[in-house]
Amino acid sequence: MSIKNHKYKFTWAILNLTRLMEVETDRKTPTKRKSSFYSIKLIICVLVLFLFVILFQAETSSLDSYSLSPTASSWAFFKKWKGLALKANHGPSHSDITDSTIISKLRESVTFLPLKDLRFSETAMSGNTWFMSSLNDTYEENEAEYLYFPSKASKGRLLCIKGRDVRDGTKSSYALAWPESLPDKTLFMKGLTFLSDSYYDYVNLWHGVCAMAPFVGWSMKNECLRPTRWVLYHWGELRNSMGKWLQNLMQATYGEVLVEGFEKGDDGPYCFEKAIVMRHNLGNMGKEKKLEVFDLLRCKARGFCGINQADRGREVNERGEPIIRLTLLMRRGSRSFRNASAVTDIFARECARVEGCLLKVIQSEDLTFCDQVKVMSNTDIVASPHGAQLTNMLFMDRNSSIMEFFPKGWLELAGLGQYAHHWMADLSGMKHQGAWWDPNGEKECPFPKEDPECFTFYKDGKVGHNETFFAEWARRVLKQVRISKLEQANKSTPLKSSACIC
Ligand SMILES: *[C@@H]1O[C@H](CO)[C@@H](O)[C@H](O)[C@H]1NC(C)=O
Ligand SMILES: *[C@@H]1O[C@H](CO)[C@@H](O)[C@H](O)[C@H]1NC(C)=O
Ligand SMILES: *[C@@H]1O[C@H](CO)[C@@H](O)[C@H](O)[C@H]1NC(C)=O
Ligand SMILES: *[C@@H]1O[C@H](CO)[C@@H](O)[C@H](O)[C@H]1NC(C)=O
Ligand SMILES: *[C@@H]1O[C@H](CO)[C@@H](O)[C@H](O)[C@H]1NC(C)=O
Repeated sequence: MSIKNHKYKFTWAILNLTRLMEVETDRKTPTKRKSSFYSIKLIICVLVLFLFVILFQAETSSLDSYSLSPTASSWAFFKKWKGLALKANHGPSHSDITDSTIISKLRESVTFLPLKDLRFSETAMSGNTWFMSSLNDTYEENEAEYLYFPSKASKGRLLCIKGRDVRDGTKSSYALAWPESLPDKTLFMKGLTFLSDSYYDYVNLWHGVCAMAPFVGWSMKNECLRPTRWVLYHWGELRNSMGKWLQNLMQATYGEVLVEGFEKGDDGPYCFEKAIVMRHNLGNMGKEKKLEVFDLLRCKARGFCGINQADRGREVNERGEPIIRLTLLMRRGSRSFRNASAVTDIFARECARVEGCLLKVIQSEDLTFCDQVKVMSNTDIVASPHGAQLTNMLFMDRNSSIMEFFPKGWLELAGLGQYAHHWMADLSGMKHQGAWWDPNGEKECPFPKEDPECFTFYKDGKVGHNETFFAEWARRVLKQVRISKLEQANKSTPLKSSACIC
């Protein structure tokens, strides 16, 4: 606080000296006082220069002061701005300019720009994105890029939003404004706001978790700060809620989740006391940081659902053999197994051949959020057809294994998207043990082979099985997990603390 007080005083001193200088210049009359006047002016100039140097140092040493006291900093900036404005104005009426006229001028000059900038529609996912395209991200090593308001980069200005269109992002707009000169009819939103723009959505588990993870990472670095509210956009279009699963995960992490719908008034803008904006999903977040974020999500979810390490039971049986929990996570309808009982039989047979292996067959649709967390907390190997239910892998212990199955058509036509769960495994510290792509479909696609229509045709088909392949694959993964659990058991390291870092 002391630095800021000084800065404040210096700013005033400079302002007063500048004013004095200008008043003197205006009054400049008879020539006989001229030389003494100029020497006074010289001294004042040197003094001003000296004060500027001190001011500059004070400012560079308080880079992070914005998050603590945005108003004082932006007020200092505002004073400086006023000083410049006064100096620039040589008209006769400049001495009439008062704080309140400048404030009202600033109030009038707040400029709103469309949230979605169509000039960047071709590169919406790279660079600055088309969302708030006039603003540059802040980069920190290993962190997802973000925007924070008020900050040095925003020159102490707050973020304001106008409009709440749910279909067209160009119809809502944003602006920056100093807290002293917010636009008329502003609704001031106290506290910290998490504002997200995603190219995808907040319902799909995988897309949702990728949109939220950067906020978690930011919190971890910033005293575990929690949001007062969330504002969610997709292409600048407002979204009033997140999917149930994601909402549960965020509630587990941060407590009650409030998604802002901007329903208190249509005229005025909403300005945020503090806001953090994420528009690149995980962006530049480093690998270690990602693992830490997912460790925290796992820990928070388990705590929220009342699961503790002791419930899991022993990792090794009385004969020193590791316990291996194998879960078949089934789907109904699209991308379910064509013959689920045949697949279950294969895995049951292989599991029975390994001492300590326990097989569970779970229907994913029947599970509540906490059931999902519980099942996965008690799984070392999950085998499941491709689908959002696999995002739950993040609740397994680190280093657990995933086996994934695809219906025909995905390998040839799905592009990179089919590797989402490989990436998820990487993010959350799991081992993706490969995938099986069904070479056969129920029917052949009636269009030419490479036609995108064919992907739509195959996308949600059923998954068959290959007994030989599944049996060999299960045997291989079980063997590997057994060895790694033995090694783990032999390490006499004490159990990791199950306390979350936030
Ligand atoms: C944002 O970054 C670009 C490229 O580095 C730069 O040209 C531009 O001036 C920056 N804009 C602002 C508002 O800082
Ligand atoms: C499913 O597989 C089992 C065992 O392999 C077999 O007995 C059964 O006939 C199959 N069911 C269908 C509908 O194909
Ligand atoms: C995960 O496995 C690797 C080797 O496969 C091992 O080095 C690491 O310690 C394991 N991590 C945990 C958290 O068990
Ligand atoms: C089943 O898998 C085995 C082992 O990978 C392979 O040799 C065989 O050709 C496959 N059978 C069919 C019908 O695809
Ligand atoms: C674990 O330790 C036991 C004896 O304490 C030893 O017999 C066994 O080979 C070790 N296993 C591994 C995988 O290191």
